[in-house]
Amino acid sequence: MRVIVTGASKGIGRGIATFLAMDGFQVALLARSKDLLKDVRQSIEEHEGDCFSVACDLRDPDETEYAIGAAVEHFGGVDALINNAGLVIRKSAFDISLDEWRAMVDTNINGVFYATRAVLPHMKRQGSGHIINVSSISGRVPLPGGSGYAATKFAVTGFSQSLLQEVRDFGIKVTTIYPGSVDSASHRHDPSEDAGWKVRPEEVGEACAHVLHTPPGTVISELEIRPLGRPPKK
Ligand SMILES: NC(=O)c1ccc[n+]([C@@H]2O[C@H](COP(=O)([O-])OP(=O)(O)OC[C@H]3O[C@@H](n4cnc5c(N)ncnc54)[C@H](OP(=O)(O)O)[C@@H]3O)[C@@H](O)[C@H]2O)c1
Repeated sequence: MRVIVTGASKGIGRGIATFLAMDGFQVALLARSKDLLKDVRQSIEEHEGDCFSVACDLRDPDETEYAIGAAVEHFGGVDALINNAGLVIRKSAFDISLDEWRAMVDTNINGVFYATRAVLPHMKRQGSGHIINVSSISGRVPLPGGSGYAATKFAVTGFSQSLLQEVRDFGIKVTTIYPGSVDSASHRHDPSEDAGWKVRPEEVGEACAHVLHTPPGTVISELEIRPLGRPPKK
């Protein structure tokens, strides 16, 4: 199965791409940082994984269309797109700057839309495909102190759930994933904190693999993934 993973240069996206590649999927990695992408690709290839990478800024619709097209051409088609890339700025409406607000809207909402729009014609032509959108628990319940971030994730949820209804008759599946606390560097406010209780990025990849392995006539439309443990008491 050929899967494009956005935001694959680090964090959850790296974990998803690595797990899927080790599980036998062909993976295309998208993100801005060429060096980090190269590092992920090399690590996957060292373990005999089949991998392609292309740098792109998802805030740019033309760059995104080019990158998705390059991945589809490389693998001769596409079976899934995982819209994982996202920007987390956890600030209240009092504190967030206009530039920070716009950066989150551009990355978390527009980026998801541009990548989806770029991949849909290929999937429609094939009569099959699967889009997994990484929302957040904060795309379902309020996040005090992070209203801007929550707004973008509620948008992803609304887009994703509605998209399923628009594309299902073309044989295209859509799944919305709602992660709770996952151990990625950008979510560590204090680098020395014990993050062992959190979900590991590869475990989100394992969840994606389960979702992708459902039979052709079935879709897991929503999936919430949370750690069982709790943060250590201070
Ligand atoms: N970690 C959590 O606890 C958690 C919980 C719920 C949901 N989430 C969601 O999970 C996703 C991944 O989060 P994370 O914690 O793994 O974040 P992260 O470690 O900061 O990784 C974000 C990824 O997105 C890429 N990215 C950001 N802006 C981009 C752009 N304009 N164009 C292309 N790629 C871009 C980054 O790559 P470059 O910088 O190289 O471009 C990076 O690969 C996000 O959508 C986040 O909202 C995370």
